[in-house]
Amino acid sequence: MQQEAKRLLQTGKTIAFVPTMGYFHEGHLALMREGRKHGDALIISIFVNPTQFGPGEDFQGYPRDVNRDMSLAESVGVDVIFAPEAKAMYDKAYQTHIDLEMLPRYLCGPSRPGHFRGVATVVTKLFNIVKPHVAIFGKKDYQQLLIIQRMVRDLRLDIKIVGVPIVREADGLAMSSRNNYLSENERRSALSLFQSLQQAQETVAQGIRNARELIRGASELIRSYPYTKIDYVTVCDPETLEDVDRVDGPTLMALAVWVGKTRLIDNTILKPSNYSGSKFQGSRFKVRER
Ligand code: PAJ
Repeated sequence: MQQEAKRLLQTGKTIAFVPTMGYFHEGHLALMREGRKHGDALIISIFVNPTQFGPGEDFQGYPRDVNRDMSLAESVGVDVIFAPEAKAMYDKAYQTHIDLEMLPRYLCGPSRPGHFRGVATVVTKLFNIVKPHVAIFGKKDYQQLLIIQRMVRDLRLDIKIVGVPIVREADGLAMSSRNNYLSENERRSALSLFQSLQQAQETVAQGIRNARELIRGASELIRSYPYTKIDYVTVCDPETLEDVDRVDGPTLMALAVWVGKTRLIDNTILKPSNYSGSKFQGSRFKVRER
């Protein structure tokens, strides 16, 4: 892969990169379609990274179907698929990791110790191997995207990070390889994640800005569905991930919920209705480009 990347760079090609753990759904394919726009060559990786799974987590059972993934990737114009074996990425004496100080302390961090260390480390390694100009990540894993953006800035990696909106099923459930674990009944309960975010959006639109009230509303809705157990529901600053008391500007609402034995995540940016982003945006005056 490193030789192939060097060869592409030598011929003046730009490289767009989409790292994945495989078992593709429309969310992954949306990232690849976005990637297609950002480089001459589109490279993806398929690697179920062992170091980002905790001891009791689903590393062994994580769904895999490389043949199906290859034909889906081909159908959206992927040029190169990098699918290394674990021993090619981590040899027996492996001992170097990337740790961020603050961002992994929030949201999913406390319930998944070591997870973001594993993600930051493998993504850095993949960046070094694939040598992309641009890399594409989904907003479904909002905290992951934020961590990669911070890491790239901190380490002065010369890579542009592009975020892609969450791709959902027709009823609103955020697409995830882990949705395949759900039984029919659990699948119905899984909708509570999206519904609680939607309810919060509506509540904010009605003028309620109190974070505790929004969290309580979301929690009650989720608990009203069977098989659900809340890991966290948070209303926080979209850049630092610190809790906020009120929704005064664009604010992240993020949640993680166990549905049976499957842990699902989802998020949205809450926007108070009188907030327009800038003085001009949303007003009847257009800012002309000169
Ligand atoms: P994986 O879960 O396979 O996801 C690969 C990419 O697809 C991530 O950037 C993720 O945010 C994005 N994605 C997944 N579901 C999505 C959806 N419904 N809408 C939009 N984007 C979605 O995330 C990982 O793998 C790994 O942690 C990885 C970054 C590859 C490092 O091992």
